[in-house]
Amino acid sequence: MLPNAMRGKLSKLFHTGITCATFCCHRSWSLKLKRNNLVLASELRTPIHAVDSYEPFLNRLERRAKEKGLAHLVRIHCMNMKDIPSVFPTLDLLWSEGAAYNIGFANALSTWAKAIKPNGFAVLTELCRLREQIPNAVKEFFRSGYPDMQSVPQNIAIAEEAGYKIFNTYTLPREAWVNDYYDVLEPRAKSLVNHSDVAVRDFAVETLKEIEAFKISEDSYGYVFFVLQRSN
Ligand SMILES: C[S@@+](CC[C@H](N)C(=O)[O-])C[C@H]1O[C@@H](n2cnc3c(N)ncnc32)[C@H](O)[C@@H]1O
Repeated sequence: MLPNAMRGKLSKLFHTGITCATFCCHRSWSLKLKRNNLVLASELRTPIHAVDSYEPFLNRLERRAKEKGLAHLVRIHCMNMKDIPSVFPTLDLLWSEGAAYNIGFANALSTWAKAIKPNGFAVLTELCRLREQIPNAVKEFFRSGYPDMQSVPQNIAIAEEAGYKIFNTYTLPREAWVNDYYDVLEPRAKSLVNHSDVAVRDFAVETLKEIEAFKISEDSYGYVFFVLQRSN
């Protein structure tokens, strides 16, 4: 998903012929997060290298790119994101929504810095604490859900330490979680809580807990875009 405010800023930055790597797919239940690669390809009109370690997501992206007439702009790579620097040593832009945490936000930033050209960009989203006061039940959920969650200033410090300048930050609005995402996900999860497969049942229950935590969160956490420029 590319927020309008950010789309305007980014389109002014890029010319032609940039190389861009993004992380493919979407959360396991489908939905709107998967569109970011196609939005980037059509906005930037430049080849996008879509990276994911799960091949079915990449295959689905390839199909959707064909349907939208963007196949010539999207190349898929089934690989580990930690190997980005050896496969793409000179990126103009690395775009990663909701994926860096898989190898640790700080580790991802320092690993990917080696792949991004000086003055090139990294645009990442990361789940952040947005307020000091977090309701206890939400704290409890994230104690196991994402114990490494940091505040925005802490993540800015992490990015600077990893060799980036902060170009901008942008917090996804509450509606971005709800419209076309939780409002679709919640009924699907509810319909699966009695599924015969225990793994499906557990996943449905975990998803409902996550949605419940979000409902009572009082905006104490959220996804933040970090638009970072690689220092020289
Ligand atoms: C929450 S999804 C977000 C994906 C996408 N950026 C989006 O917004 O829809 C995280 C993705 O990271 C992928 N992933 C997890 N660990 C990975 C790794 N070590 N290397 C590459 N991809 C990985 C998962 O398969 C999943 O597709």
